[in-house]
Amino acid sequence: MIVGLPKEIKDNENRVALTPAGVRAFSAAGHEVVVEQSAGAGSGISDEDYTAAGAKILPTADEVFARAGMIVKVKEPVGPEYRRLREGQILFTYLHLAPAGELTAMLLERKVAGVAYETITSSNGSLPLLTPMSEVAGRMAIHVGAFYLQKSNGGRGVLLPGVPGVPPADVVIIGGGVVGTNAAKIAAGMGADVTILEMSPDRMRELDDIFFGRVKTVASNPETLERGCRRADLLVGAVLIPGAAAPKLVSRDLISKMKKGAVAVDVAVDQGGCFATTHATTHSDPVYEVDGVIHYCVANMPGAVARTSTFALTNSTLRYALELANKGLKRAVTENPHLAEGVNTYNGLLTYRAVAESQGREYTPLKQALA
Ligand SMILES: NC(=O)c1ccc[n+]([C@@H]2O[C@H](COP(=O)([O-])OP(=O)(O)OC[C@H]3O[C@@H](n4cnc5c(N)ncnc54)[C@H](O)[C@@H]3O)[C@@H](O)[C@H]2O)c1
Repeated sequence: MIVGLPKEIKDNENRVALTPAGVRAFSAAGHEVVVEQSAGAGSGISDEDYTAAGAKILPTADEVFARAGMIVKVKEPVGPEYRRLREGQILFTYLHLAPAGELTAMLLERKVAGVAYETITSSNGSLPLLTPMSEVAGRMAIHVGAFYLQKSNGGRGVLLPGVPGVPPADVVIIGGGVVGTNAAKIAAGMGADVTILEMSPDRMRELDDIFFGRVKTVASNPETLERGCRRADLLVGAVLIPGAAAPKLVSRDLISKMKKGAVAVDVAVDQGGCFATTHATTHSDPVYEVDGVIHYCVANMPGAVARTSTFALTNSTLRYALELANKGLKRAVTENPHLAEGVNTYNGLLTYRAVAESQGREYTPLKQALA
């Protein structure tokens, strides 16, 4: 297999999908890796680092896409990348197709085998390739929230931990999964008053055990959501319904009832967001205000801490990328049902049910598509 590693071109996206250790692993397995010039620069990885590991550097993305049977990326294809993809090519990356009709149509038209990091499962039902980036985004949500709560950055001028004699800020997190738990860890570590609203009673029990009373858990329903939003200095949206668009849990009306100068960080923006007022922003223009509430809705938060994120991501993705290269897509997904869950598009067919339902498109089971 020729494996192609292009440079990411989404706004301020500095991660890269393979480290030199990954290149070495592909080379050792008998594959060739072609890397676009300066693909790793944003993560502090030089062309020489890749060459030393056995990669060949190519000057343009066009050449990388043209040569490779499998493209490994971080973010979904954007702009000029659409026309570079071709029939039968494997695209292994985050895709987040549920809210992305145009991208889905392109992958289907071009008959690309789109294998999405975020829908690959593990035997315990978790999403192992979403986890590392969720850990980063959850931790970061509190950093950025604390920053925008400062008066000079538009916030209400609240210090997360308070000081002796002044109570800490209220941090309310909707969704107690990986993002929510990591956000809670940092918020609690900084001394904030932290509440997690969660749907699953079992998850709330786990959270209660993890935090030992330091973080409150509350069953999520319209009433508790309203109380939480009204109280929050910093609101974090961290819900997920795997593969589907995020539910709009916080209405425009509820946003208008929040404290003026509060900060709302919608980490779930990559699945469409869980606030009615959410629209995706970028690192170069990350925030906007609705009814006095600062919204931070960057869809690729981990890109801001690219080096940490690149190593965290590739620690988890490499084994699946190797499996695809070593066995070819058909055999790899037939032998590994968890990897099969990652296949969203194949040969012009939409093979992931939740995406099909979100977009009102026809769903074809993967087994049928492979046959
Ligand atoms: N913006 C970014 O850069 C970025 C980075 C990583 C992850 N994400 C996104 O963050 C979101 C959360 O990811 P995760 O890894 O924590 O998912 P997860 O599955 O670990 O957690 C989601 C949690 O939401 C809970 N939930 C579902 N419906 C709920 C409701 N109505 N009320 C309260 N809780 C509810 C679930 O029970 C679950 O515990 C996803 O949309 C993911 O794609 C975004």
